[in-house]
Amino acid sequence: MTAPHLDVHLSPDAAEQALRRDALVGLTAEPKWLPPKWFYDDRGSELFEEITALPEYYPTRTERALLAEHAGAVAAATGADTLVELGSGSSEKTRLLLDAMQEQGTLRRYVPQDVSRSALAAATAEVAAEYPGVQVQGVVGDFTADLEALPRGNRRMIAFLGGTLGNLVPAERTAFLAAVRAALVDGEHLLLGVGLVTDPQVLVPAYDDAAGVTAEFNRNVLHVLNRELGANFDVDAFEHVAVWDAEQEWIEMRLQATRAMRVHVAELDLDVSFAAGEQLRTEVSAKFRLEGVQAELAAVGLEVAGTWTDPDQRFALLLARAT
Ligand code: SAH
Ligand code: AVI
Repeated sequence: MTAPHLDVHLSPDAAEQALRRDALVGLTAEPKWLPPKWFYDDRGSELFEEITALPEYYPTRTERALLAEHAGAVAAATGADTLVELGSGSSEKTRLLLDAMQEQGTLRRYVPQDVSRSALAAATAEVAAEYPGVQVQGVVGDFTADLEALPRGNRRMIAFLGGTLGNLVPAERTAFLAAVRAALVDGEHLLLGVGLVTDPQVLVPAYDDAAGVTAEFNRNVLHVLNRELGANFDVDAFEHVAVWDAEQEWIEMRLQATRAMRVHVAELDLDVSFAAGEQLRTEVSAKFRLEGVQAELAAVGLEVAGTWTDPDQRFALLLARAT
């Protein structure tokens, strides 16, 4: 089997430069933070897949059930022949959409985009083998920067699943939604999966599982900095923290220094001091209210054409049409 060719919109050099920039800004800020996209090296992508199977992590299975029930309606409403997917990861749930598009006879092309080359290479090889006759064109890219370079033409639907929209902070989210709208031609669609505000007793364990997989995923970003930037983080000296911020309505993942320490980041020629108990923010995972997300879509010219939620109101799929 020949693995499909990947288009590279984010080269390893550009990714390394972006990591340097983000690490310099984030590690010298008060409080310290890092953007979540750096979790996803090979190991981080594997750990995320493990998370999706954890009993506490309800988003993946809830979204999968919604797709299983409504993918036919989505395919029919869009008539799309091209599925572009942002932050596609393993493309596991995407099969439900591809199947529905294939059943209605419109599916021609699948364009998954992800920063993780390893996840993308594995997913495109599998999808290409499972869907002969469908053009599979993987793109290594950053969905916060590279949307205008995505292939145009045909009748496209952009899928952004998993609740990944919630990993953008509000200003990034607004800019991202406007860029998605700008990348679409009138009449094309966005299919968005978002987590909804729900009981913190359900939310918090989803980000702090008993088996410690999320903790390992969180700490993985320090391994990335050690390897890519020659940092000397003592990874085991950081504890995983997940808190629900009821005001912002987001889960915040942090890494807490268990002792005072000084970390050297060789590639940045930077020393970073941590006080005992100091926390480094590594991710926000915002949860939404339907009216709020619908208003954010409308504000950028994306008209909601369908909204589906699970019986417990923990997750929503929204289909929006560029107008
Ligand atoms: N859509 C899949 C995967 C979600 S995990 C699902 O629903 O299960 C988030 C995915 O987005 C990962 O594969 C990660 O590598 C990717 N990602 C994170 N930040 C990104 C960015 N800025 N640009 C492109 N991909 C990104
Ligand atoms: C990819 N993203 C939607 C996940 C989330 O739920 O915010 C990442 C994740 N972080 C911790 N667990 C999973």
